[in-house]
Amino acid sequence: MQIIDGKATAAQIKAEIAEEVKQIVANGGKRPHLAAILVGHDGGSETYVRNKVLACEACGFKSTLLRFEDTISEEDLLAEVDKLNRDEDVDGFIVQLPLPAHISEQKVIEAIDYRKDVDGFHPINVGRMAIGLPCYISATPKGILELLWRYHIETSGKKCVILGRSNIVGKPMAQLMMQKQYGDATVTVCHSRSRDLKKECREADIIIAAIGRPDFVTADMVKDGATIIDVGTTRVPDATKKSGFRLNGDVKYDEVSPKCSFITPVPGGVGPMTICMLMKNTLSAGKKEFYR
Ligand code: GUN
Repeated sequence: MQIIDGKATAAQIKAEIAEEVKQIVANGGKRPHLAAILVGHDGGSETYVRNKVLACEACGFKSTLLRFEDTISEEDLLAEVDKLNRDEDVDGFIVQLPLPAHISEQKVIEAIDYRKDVDGFHPINVGRMAIGLPCYISATPKGILELLWRYHIETSGKKCVILGRSNIVGKPMAQLMMQKQYGDATVTVCHSRSRDLKKECREADIIIAAIGRPDFVTADMVKDGATIIDVGTTRVPDATKKSGFRLNGDVKYDEVSPKCSFITPVPGGVGPMTICMLMKNTLSAGKKEFYR
């Protein structure tokens, strides 16, 4: 069994990006610039955005953080999005989710210029991804593809079971794993209403678990030699931690890991790759790789 080290892989990719940025700037090119909008004071969002800003520094990007109180109106937030759309110095930007209940997340996502949508959440990017056109691919599925690729894990013709059908992970992951140019696999998507979910999992060469239910995938659901990708990051109370909680994956790691050929740990697997792929998308935005 081999542990897929997302932390080390992410560090390596960030170093590769930093090197490329150095070259771009040395050749008189523009330093990539990522902006982030953070509304309110949600603890998780604060941490994510702080880590995104730090990752920008590690990659040699310029970053701008725009903070607003959670009392900001939808109209005012849309006006801020529009400002970033028009700001020629900003190559890409994100609006950190979740947003307060009085603001429509979908409306905000659709207001972002798809050419600057480095989260890959805009319907134009989602649609282009689905039909295999160049576009921003959202960070978590992109990070999983990168891990499979860097660990030389064969996916072509393999049976891949995806647990979960969210817009951010399950759905795009299924699209990418089935496409010839990415996974080229036979894909089954299972969710809360799926019958014979255990049987589907037992037949899988690759399981990608993204349902947000701690320890859901148990040893009896896993074929010998399978590859297990754990996207779960549920905060569970843990008195032994300074923060009072720990991150728990969707996979019962201790009993599943001895059975598989590859597995991602939680933390340190898929998680670190996510921000790293946002950096890759920002580099692409700076280079105008997908859109002029
Ligand atoms: N909230 C949780 N994950 C994400 C993400 O990838 N992008 C944004 N914008 N918000 C998030």
